Amino acid sequence: MFELNKDITRFTTFGLPAKAAYFAEYSSPEELKALTLTPEFSENQVLHIGGGSNLVFIHDFNGVILHSAIRGIEEYSKNEEEVFVMAGAGEKWTDLVDWCVERGIGGIENMAGIPGEVGAAPVQNVGAYGVEAKDVIHSVVCFDILTREKITFFNDYHKVKNKSENRLGFSYRDSRFKHEWKGRYYVLQVSFRLRRSSLAHNLEYKALKKFAETLDHQPSIKEVAEEVVRLRDSKLPDPSKTGSVGSFFKNPIVSRYYFEQAMLALDPDIEYYPETRLNENEPEMVKVPAGWLIEHAGLKGMRIGGAQVDPKNALVIINTGNATGKDVETLARSVVDHVRERFAIALEREANYVDSDIKVTILGSGTSKGVPEVGCLCRVCRSRSNFDHRLRASALVRTMGLDLLIDVSPDFRQQALREDLYRVDAVLLTHSHYDHVGGIDDLRPFCAHRNVPIYLKHDVNDDLHRRLDYCFRAHPYPGVPTFDMHEIDSRPFFIDGVEIIPIKVMHGSLPILGYRIGKFAYITDAKTIDEDELEKLEGLDVLIINALRFRPHFSHLSIEEAVSIIKRIKPKEAYLTHFNHEVGLHDELSEQLPPNIHPCYDGLKLTIK
Ligand code: EPU
Repeated sequence: MFELNKDITRFTTFGLPAKAAYFAEYSSPEELKALTLTPEFSENQVLHIGGGSNLVFIHDFNGVILHSAIRGIEEYSKNEEEVFVMAGAGEKWTDLVDWCVERGIGGIENMAGIPGEVGAAPVQNVGAYGVEAKDVIHSVVCFDILTREKITFFNDYHKVKNKSENRLGFSYRDSRFKHEWKGRYYVLQVSFRLRRSSLAHNLEYKALKKFAETLDHQPSIKEVAEEVVRLRDSKLPDPSKTGSVGSFFKNPIVSRYYFEQAMLALDPDIEYYPETRLNENEPEMVKVPAGWLIEHAGLKGMRIGGAQVDPKNALVIINTGNATGKDVETLARSVVDHVRERFAIALEREANYVDSDIKVTILGSGTSKGVPEVGCLCRVCRSRSNFDHRLRASALVRTMGLDLLIDVSPDFRQQALREDLYRVDAVLLTHSHYDHVGGIDDLRPFCAHRNVPIYLKHDVNDDLHRRLDYCFRAHPYPGVPTFDMHEIDSRPFFIDGVEIIPIKVMHGSLPILGYRIGKFAYITDAKTIDEDELEKLEGLDVLIINALRFRPHFSHLSIEEAVSIIKRIKPKEAYLTHFNHEVGLHDELSEQLPPNIHPCYDGLKLTIK
């Protein structure tokens, strides 16, 4: 059923060399269903790709790649003006545009020439020249991998807390398919609501308005499609000759407050466009063209290995022939850093990184008082070794291009500065004790683009609403951090396609959460773990678990107790964390532990392949 060790270089427009451990293509929902019932599917990281026009393979993918070959384009209901067109997810987007233009069906001609497949259009809310997928999609037929049934989502609005919200979560280059639905719903077909008209109607975009003025008649959809392809050719590299993913970065949309206070103060000439607001209660936002920022940071043509910032269009990174994923990653990071330095904004990628490795950084390995303890003169607290300086416990986990923060310790500011952290995609909280959440206000710099999502239990959410009430008011003080709170229980959930398995552990009499991500798990503040939860920790490559000191404690595992849990779970390697000063000097502690058990230290970095 699966092809093994498949070369997938040609499945992406970037053409970065990569192989997938397992690969399969399906042409019907039934074939897809059969694939989801295989052990390969359930035991590995799964990535569903479309035309690969937005993917950056950092290296080989150690998991399953699925690709839809569901074809077919048809009109399925029509009246005088409105036409519904249903297209298979595996159809090329440009074939759909041609099909419509040839039949005098208008609505998507402004999106001519976009590489990729139909299935990606709703995921990415693709857009160009004044039209976005959200303007023309009627509904999306999906396969739900939990129920293994078809389900249809309609592109309409529903009320959430008195606000009207798009059911598919469409916004600029974004949708629910990219976040909480990723990994759960695969697009089978997309239905578009279009117009029977050979005359073009969407001519608002500046370049198209200008084009229309050169004609003596209202342009036809064919003329607009041709003009759009001409414009794209002049701005974007020819996909058949030069590998790229089109725009590599998104145009940042930031609050006018942040823009004026932080960015304009650095350069009064920054180009920007005010975003339209639906009502006056919404904060004023501005869009800043990333291409302008990159060009004015002097980065056009910058090159690392085979990757280059396109000398013609700064928003694009190109493969000059022999680029690797690592080259692209290093170049993109350098672009982000230069733009941060020059304009005080961290660009967000539009491109998706595919990197199945899990990279863990220990931000802090100390208990609630940290080590050294204030006022203590013991030899551990007086040690000059960095290994004995322990900030309050938290960890950063990087996988599939996401930066996930587990707990936000009161030392977070110092930890973020040490690690040069400039983005956090989501926060996972274990519980609400101060040493695990005391740094939440310091997430402010990560809120310039969007609310930081926080995953937490109901009781933790209640506590935070009380303690940080100023962040949750209807009209908060400008500049306070803004969050999207996601309440979870002990059931697995997805963050942008990455499966997170909560592990319930007891912190004395308080139930709190640890987290498993792939073959890695992080547990802190446990005293006991039930048998059912221990089973969720089988087959780990790396376990990080708390161990306060040698003496027993009523709510924390001692070193001996932690070692006995590790021996029961049998991860390949285990690391102890959340120490107080009684554990002794780091080097001495290290020698006393079994060979596959190690003490954490601040700044420790681990890679789980
Ligand atoms: N700019 C520069 N230097 C550059 C490139 C751009 O200064 O090297 C500035 C220009 O000042 C220009 C501004 O950026 O006024 C905006 O450029 P343009 O109107 O060409 O559009 P864009 O913001 O660069 C977006 C989409 C494209 C889409 C075009 C047309 C994003 C990230 N990109 O580009 O989408 O084709 O608008 O609608 O939103 C894609 O997603 O892959 C893509 C190509």
